[in-house]
This record gives sequence, structure tokens and C-alpha cells, in this order.
Amino acid sequence: MLLFAGNFLRHPYMLGSIIPSSRFLVDQVLEPIDWERARVIVEYGPGVGTITGEILRRMHRDAHLVAIETNKAFVRFLPTSLPDPRLQVVHDSAAEVQSVLQRLGLPRASYIISGIPLGSMPERVRADIVAKSRAALEPGGAFLVYQFTSRVLPVLQRTFGDVRRSFERRNLPPAQLFVCATEAA
Ligand SMILES: C[S@@+](CC[C@H](N)C(=O)[O-])C[C@H]1O[C@@H](n2cnc3c(N)ncnc32)[C@H](O)[C@@H]1O
Repeated sequence: MLLFAGNFLRHPYMLGSIIPSSRFLVDQVLEPIDWERARVIVEYGPGVGTITGEILRRMHRDAHLVAIETNKAFVRFLPTSLPDPRLQVVHDSAAEVQSVLQRLGLPRASYIISGIPLGSMPERVRADIVAKSRAALEPGGAFLVYQFTSRVLPVLQRTFGDVRRSFERRNLPPAQLFVCATEAA
């Protein structure tokens, strides 16, 4: 919590929130995941690992979790706080998701979970990350996005077509959720 708040004071724009996600938000973000099927899961912006720990708790023993984080302090902290051979923490941007998976020798992801502040990024950067995320998903996969505004909705709809929305008010601040599915093969 202190690590997260301290980093918020240094990088408010990159973090987007001063406190980690509530357990209500974590449950709702992870609700669409078919844990039996998912073998590669990517998380953008794990922060101090509030969602990461819960993904590890629920995911299949043969599955891989790739956490992509731009903040070096979190990248150093996560492997020590969540030691698990299924977790790989990568210091990079979400925009590099395809090359990260390639470097790790992994196929396309079943799910990408994103809590990075897409809504406050320039439109061009936001559109680029959303397009690359779609390309990094397997058929029948999904991009699971939580945000504190709906600014990301138009680009999600343009890129995915199929976007389901919901809301979690038991979080500070209240969060919007978007489930963006790719067509099955
Ligand atoms: C709101 S915090 C979310 C933390 C955590 N997932 C949670 O729900 O409590 C957003 C995180 O995204 C990271 N981040 C911001 N831009 C990023 C990018 N382009 N690629 C990867 N991580 C990014 C920040 O460093 C920060 O840790």
C-alpha cells in the first residue's frame, strides 16, 4: 500500500489511482475468465499485484501469467512478493505485448487484463495499445479492461465490435468494466 501510494505521488498520470483495486473490483474483473481453458494470461500494469495474486490463486497449474509493467519499483517488488514459477514480470509497455509474448516463446493470450490508465493517454497511444492487444489475443479470447472513465469505450468498440459494459461502485474511485471479445475460430 505504501509502495503504491509513494509511486502515485511520483507518477500520478501513469498510475491513475492512489489506492489498489478493491476485492469487489478484482472479483468482477476476473469473473469472465474460463480458468480451465486459459493457458496464457497477460496483465497490464500489475502495480503491487492486487489482481496478480488473485489470478495466480485461480489459474491452472500449467498456465502462464505475464505481467507487463512500466514502473521499475513494481517490477522489482512483484517477483519477491509473489514468488510463483508461473509468473513472469516484464519491464516494458503494454504497447509491446506481441514482442513480449514472442520473446518468452508463448502463443497468443486467452485473456489480457488491463488496469492501465488508457483514458488519460493521448488518443493515438490508446488506439495503438488497443489494436496491439486485439492482435495478441487468440480467437475466442477477451480483453478485460477496467477504468475510471468511459473515454476508452469508442476505441474499444471500433476495434472489437463486441463490448460488454458493467460498473463496480464498491471501489475508490468507482470503476467501469469493459469485456471485449474476439471472434471464436
Ligand atoms: C491504476 S494502477 C493499477 C494497479 C493494479 N493493477 C490494481 O488494480 O490495483 C496502473 C498501473 O499501470 C502501470 N502502467 C501505466 N502505463 C503502462 C503501460 N503503458 N504499460 C504497462 N504498465 C503501465 C502503472 O505503472 C501502474 O502500476
